[in-house]
Amino acid sequence: MTLGFDTLAIHAGQEPEPRTGAVVVPIYQTSTYKQDGVGGLREGYEYSRSANPTRTALEECLQALEGGQTGLAFASGLAAEDTLIRTACRPGDHVVIPDDAYGGTFRLFAKVAERWGVSWTSAKLSDPGSVRAAIRPETKLVWVETPTNPLLGIADIAALAAIAHEAGARLVVDNTFASPYLQQPIAHGADVVVHSTTKYVGGHSDVVGGALIAADAGLGEELRYHQNAMGAIAGPFDAWLTLRGIKTLGVRMERHSDNAERIAEFLTGHAKVAQVLYPGLPDHQGHEIAAKQMLRFGGMISFRVNGGEEAAVEVCNRAKLFTLGESLGGVESLIEHPGRMTHASAAGSPLEVPADLVRLSVGIETVDDLLADLAEALG
Ligand SMILES: Cc1ncc(COP(=O)(O)O)c(C=O)c1O
Repeated sequence: MTLGFDTLAIHAGQEPEPRTGAVVVPIYQTSTYKQDGVGGLREGYEYSRSANPTRTALEECLQALEGGQTGLAFASGLAAEDTLIRTACRPGDHVVIPDDAYGGTFRLFAKVAERWGVSWTSAKLSDPGSVRAAIRPETKLVWVETPTNPLLGIADIAALAAIAHEAGARLVVDNTFASPYLQQPIAHGADVVVHSTTKYVGGHSDVVGGALIAADAGLGEELRYHQNAMGAIAGPFDAWLTLRGIKTLGVRMERHSDNAERIAEFLTGHAKVAQVLYPGLPDHQGHEIAAKQMLRFGGMISFRVNGGEEAAVEVCNRAKLFTLGESLGGVESLIEHPGRMTHASAAGSPLEVPADLVRLSVGIETVDDLLADLAEALG
């Protein structure tokens, strides 16, 4: 029987606990496990860096939701990315990254991986020709975000998978903005899916975490080896919180999408707004591709404000119900100025974001209240 997404979110990896029948996976807050004689492991558990039952439940659930062979949970999205880069690349290798990648991903490549001999080229991922041109013989990864953070650019996952595979490289998709409910990159040819589970997957702004889901069991085992060897794992309580959030991922994403569609429409008609970046709008450059590979268009909207940087900062400062803060994907709405906040580390680089840009993470509050708050903030 093929189970639906919401059934998997609630049950995959989450059998009732055998001893007591507890319906919710317990928090196995333990570092080690009693062995029944030397080497006599129960269910394979020996030490919680290598494996922990709460983390296993989360990992199996993530693997099921993304349709991969192996799921792995990490201490943060960047910890997951670092583990992937050091598993898949060696000194002398090259990667192609988006020209509007999340600032922290850009920093990881430009300031950390580069020092260890991994070079990178940024490419416009909405243009497959630009990706093809950036690929070199030593390219091991083509790194895709779709939608991108913060410009909401859309990349055609299937087209980029074909280009990467033709060149002998792997396609990595950071699926943080869409979540597996809206988009399942492995079904479109991706080799690895990355998540900052801090965002929609966890969904309640109460835990930092990351995940990797591998399409192929061989790569999955290599990643699992590095997860243990490098040690940047999700702890049991963080894994539990994330798993608790996942149960409602489908219903939350529907509401995020409903609210964001209304807000994108409102902003489009507003005199103070120069441009609205939301893939659900028919005039968005990536609308058709987004409609092909996403179930709906999600809860993230960016917009450019008439009046430049100061006007954009002013909107962020005036909003009340939209909390001024970094991060995204929680039930509460957030507003931020990427140029001075989340993407400040890209200043002066090819990935610098426009100074008049405001980013919204549209929450699941009553939409009329959100609209009233934005109307007030825009003045
Ligand atoms: C698209 C994207 N990828 C990765 C990350 C990094 O994740 P974390 O903050 O959990 O390390 C973020 C964080 O904002 C993100 O937005």
